[in-house]
Amino acid sequence: MTSYEQIFENNKRWIAKNKATDKEFFEKLSKGQDPDFLYIGCSDSRVATEELMGVKPGEVFVHRNIANLVCNNDLNVMSIINFAIHHLQVKHIIVCGHYGCGGVKAAMQARDLGILNPWLRNIRDVYRLHRQELNAIGDEEQRYRRLIELNVEEQALNVIKTAAVQKTYLSDGYPLVHGWVFDIKTGTIIDLKIDFQEKLKDIQEIYNLGASE
Ligand code: CO
Repeated sequence: MTSYEQIFENNKRWIAKNKATDKEFFEKLSKGQDPDFLYIGCSDSRVATEELMGVKPGEVFVHRNIANLVCNNDLNVMSIINFAIHHLQVKHIIVCGHYGCGGVKAAMQARDLGILNPWLRNIRDVYRLHRQELNAIGDEEQRYRRLIELNVEEQALNVIKTAAVQKTYLSDGYPLVHGWVFDIKTGTIIDLKIDFQEKLKDIQEIYNLGASE
């Protein structure tokens, strides 16, 4: 385990390492960001965004919360999505869940979890929407894994429901929205291959915000 004091030693070493590769590393970094990716993932400490994607500082705009939720009335995530699209012009928006997600596990249990109730209720809503499929899975571990995947899909749909995604995609051809699951046991990123065009068409039947005023 890393001690609190150790962090500052690590930081010094990190600075030296980056400067050894590129003398102007931090000067360049301070000039601004131009990431192509917005990543919305779980806060779980084992899911290290930049490391698993193999990207450098400046390459991915990141938002994390418990169980990678995109709630329609969460001003935080909605601001992130709008900023990423309108100001950073990201080309890809990724919702990334992970197997073994404690948030999803908690939502599967019949327990009062206090302030977490309204947050985790969003996952219970996903369960309710896909109850038939999930209840047909006898093995609890498999059902848990499937709920994690379905949660990613539903949160990706919530991203697609936004006016920012619909309008910008129709005029510029991006951003594309993706759903991933990170498998902690193997380190693999699994692309759920959400058919963005198909989902967008489907979503727009009810949530069409694509028309300009
Ligand atoms: Co999690």
